Amino acid sequence: METRRLPADQAGIIKAAQALKAGQVVGVPTETVYGLGADALNPRAVAAIFEAKGRPADNPLIVHVLGKAQAQALAALTPLAISLMDAFWPGPLTLVAPRLPVVPDIVTAGLPTVALRAPSHPAMRALLLESGLAIAAPSANRSGAPSPTAPEHVLADLSGLIPLVLDGGPCEVGLESTVVDATGALPLVLRPGAVTPEMIAAVAGDCLVAPSAMRPLKEGEAALSPGLRHRHYAPKAPLTLVKGPPDRVAAHIRRLCAQEEGACVLVLEERLPAYQGLSTFSLGQDLGQAAHRLFALLRQADEAGCKRILAEALPEEGLGLALMNRLARAADFDIQSV
Ligand code: TXA
Ligand code: MG
Repeated sequence: METRRLPADQAGIIKAAQALKAGQVVGVPTETVYGLGADALNPRAVAAIFEAKGRPADNPLIVHVLGKAQAQALAALTPLAISLMDAFWPGPLTLVAPRLPVVPDIVTAGLPTVALRAPSHPAMRALLLESGLAIAAPSANRSGAPSPTAPEHVLADLSGLIPLVLDGGPCEVGLESTVVDATGALPLVLRPGAVTPEMIAAVAGDCLVAPSAMRPLKEGEAALSPGLRHRHYAPKAPLTLVKGPPDRVAAHIRRLCAQEEGACVLVLEERLPAYQGLSTFSLGQDLGQAAHRLFALLRQADEAGCKRILAEALPEEGLGLALMNRLARAADFDIQSV
């Protein structure tokens, strides 16, 4: 199969909507990461997503909608879910709510709940409107690889496996949406993202964060969000995270680099002077830029032939929590404290 890349203009959106309505899968831009979309109410189309990604069938998908009205046709919304939608939609927030019977089992991996999100990317909104569909879409990477934040990444992973990628440029946020369980009285963050626990608490009064957001699951422990069971976001080169006072972190990373051929360092711009003479990748000026760049840099490190990636830990507050969640998983929890 040849994979076509179409600009996300009016003609491209009409073509992509036709493909979705015909039961095909399409690479779609969102403000977080690229998705691999299909008609959420067509089980055969959704099955094609799992096949193209090589995704385990026990990992449920996010269903993308235009907003609250469309969400209400798919799930029983709690007052909490509605207040979070009013505050953060359209945007990088996914809400887990009890599903209605119209939602096929394959979308939710048999769970009684469904994950819903209204994306803000104008091309994705135009596609939702043009197609009239709810669009199920996981990130458009091969399962386990870093999420795609540019159309080139989707093509690198899925070229030949899907008919079409809608090119909406690089993704603004760069990390996947915050996933929040909104079935109870209090919001519970299952996967941190750009909508932070602090922002959610400002709306809901309080916000819980699943402990599994920042540590590996224990043997036999059930995952609140099935995606947390699987290794994620991993570049080919092994990644090590180093945590501690800046001077000691730099000394430790320099030592590790001296021991291992082909190591490279991934840090914020302001930390580059501590690593002069080494191969470095800059995460940019602040956490927002770091989020925007992280997955692209992990791919670049692989392309550059990097044999090991050494990254400084970031503060686990605000957007830092989401960044550290992704880094820790990319490192398979190889986190060294100094
Ligand atoms: O930003 C995003 O969320 C992107 C774009 C394309 O919207 N999508 C994305 O999808 O990251 P994916 O499939 O890579 O991640 C979906 C996450 C997984 O961790 C999955 O386990 C969780 O959402 N999830 C989906 N349905 C769930 C449910 N009913 N209960 C708990 N977790 C659920
Ligand atoms: Mg994913």
